[in-house]
Amino acid sequence: MKVEIRNYKGKDKNKIAEICLLTGYSGEDASNFFKHKELLAEFYALPYLEHEPEICFVATINNEAIGYIIGTKDSVAFGKWAEENWFPPLRKKYPLNTDYATDFEKRIIELIHEGYKPKPELLDYPAHLHIDILPVAQGQGVGKRLIQTFTNKLRELNVPALHLEVGKRNTNAVSFYKKVGFHIIHEYEFSIAFGMKLV
Ligand SMILES: CC(C)(COP(=O)(O)OP(=O)(O)OC[C@H]1O[C@@H](n2cnc3c(N)ncnc32)[C@H](O)[C@@H]1OP(=O)(O)O)[C@@H](O)C(=O)NCCC(=O)NCCS
Repeated sequence: MKVEIRNYKGKDKNKIAEICLLTGYSGEDASNFFKHKELLAEFYALPYLEHEPEICFVATINNEAIGYIIGTKDSVAFGKWAEENWFPPLRKKYPLNTDYATDFEKRIIELIHEGYKPKPELLDYPAHLHIDILPVAQGQGVGKRLIQTFTNKLRELNVPALHLEVGKRNTNAVSFYKKVGFHIIHEYEFSIAFGMKLV
């Protein structure tokens, strides 16, 4: 099974949304938590494809996405763009009284209304990322290759550093980030912010 990595293309969008849901519960399938199956991706994946497709990459088998790494090179600019362009229609689509299946789904609707705000303690690491790979391709070095592809691209664009946040429950991802060169910037009650300097 040959896994290839290439730039994101528009035709990958639905697959990326699907992967986001299938890995969205601390690395496991989140489908059963959601009545609105696209909601998780609408917050965590699709805005990056819209805003910065040139730094989004997919891992593929037979040219079909089975994983991705997506993000922004400038979290402040991304937040401003999302506030002006991305969240307003979503807030109409999912008003705060929208029906939800679980507290998890309710929380994502709330996040859409709160908007994305970069945390001050992470501003020295201006880029951020999200990475998800389907179980079929996990544990074979694909995550490491995606991180290398993304960081190479950011270096090319002179981005000095990047961060990400991961839930403490997702112990697999925490181990992975430590292994591929990230250090802890900040520990919160339920999550950890990891960073990597690129220069
Ligand atoms: C977390 C994830 C991105 C890691 O990608 P991956 O392709 O499975 O990891 P790789 O095979 O590239 O592993 C790279 C290195 O990390 C190590 N590693 C990966 N998972 C690990 C684990 N659970 N425990 C210890 N080490 C681990 C590997 O041993 C490897 O080390 P090496 O370079 O010395 O061989 C992937 O498993 C995934 O998408 N999981 C589900 C979604 C998710 O949790 N995303 C992150 C949300 S914040």
